[in-house]
Amino acid sequence: MIIFGLEGTAWNLSAALVDEQGVIYEKSATYTPAKGGIHPREAAQHHAEYMAKVVGEVLAHSRQQGLKIDAVAFSQGPGLGPCLRTVATAARTLSLRFAVPLVGVNHCVAHIEVGKWQSGAHDPAVIYVSGANSQVLALRQGHYRIFGETLDISVGNAIDKFARSVGLAHPGGPKVEELARESKQYIPLPYTVKGMDLSFSGLSTAATEAAKKYDLNDVCYSLQETAFAMLVEVTERAMAHAEKREAMLVGGVGANKRLGEMLNIMCEERGARFFLPPRQFMGDNGSMIAYTGLIMLKSGATTPLAESKVRPGYRTDDVTVTWA
Ligand code: ATP
Ligand code: FE2
Repeated sequence: MIIFGLEGTAWNLSAALVDEQGVIYEKSATYTPAKGGIHPREAAQHHAEYMAKVVGEVLAHSRQQGLKIDAVAFSQGPGLGPCLRTVATAARTLSLRFAVPLVGVNHCVAHIEVGKWQSGAHDPAVIYVSGANSQVLALRQGHYRIFGETLDISVGNAIDKFARSVGLAHPGGPKVEELARESKQYIPLPYTVKGMDLSFSGLSTAATEAAKKYDLNDVCYSLQETAFAMLVEVTERAMAHAEKREAMLVGGVGANKRLGEMLNIMCEERGARFFLPPRQFMGDNGSMIAYTGLIMLKSGATTPLAESKVRPGYRTDDVTVTWA
């Protein structure tokens, strides 16, 4: 079975073909804001502009190889409204053109499913951290239940905001990681875990303030250590509560080596296993949508045209996991 998948909830327009064995082909076009953070309408314009090129290249590959596409999967939400509409329009067109089913995929669930596929995790507690989301989840009775999540902004957004405030280009995550490696001097910053939930907004502002007084490398290091320790604490409690022997890290911030290292230490200490998917599957990618579409289709879940409208606020725990 071969599925065409289309992602474009925010910064990355990406189309891919996958089958059960793996990724057959993927093509992406990245939107980078000239100044500041992501502009929803600018990002959507970018996706519209590159749609024909990105989709066209994947379809050309499929024709050259004589492949038959069995369904078109697309990210239905959550994400930026204008971006989602651009993606959904293209996906509907392709589904009609090839006369194959349409499968609307939850973007967050796709991060989780591609992570399990690519890392070999079986039933993990999931740490999903990106530019828009910070959630600790585990599968229970047919839903990815959210055990803890951010009460304000995501950890990725907190790091990106801080980075912009000190003059680093968006997205600041990778650059902050690089600078943090040059420091071992911890500056105390606000650590906010409330029950199982997290707050990163005050931490981001405090880091911006600290950067006026302290060495930037030390502030980057302290920001990471504080934010990641908060995530490790909530993950450990979710694992104990949900009785999970595995943990898996996914989402764009999951590319951060230090976060993976801290989670790995926590897992080793509790005799649990830690799973980290390859980096190419961490940030937004078309393959994760195609793969999730594939397992959804195999379980009989498709999306009629009438139900294909975009869902900007689509919650992870709204999805009934029919394929587990
Ligand atoms: P979602 O809709 O899932 O929230 P997203 O649009 O935020 O997705 P992702 O690719 O999942 O996209 O995540 C992007 C985030 O990942 C950005 O905030 C970026 O700074 C962060 N990031 C990328 N690499 C690193 C890194 N090495 N360290 C920390 N953060 C990183
Ligand atoms: Fe994402």
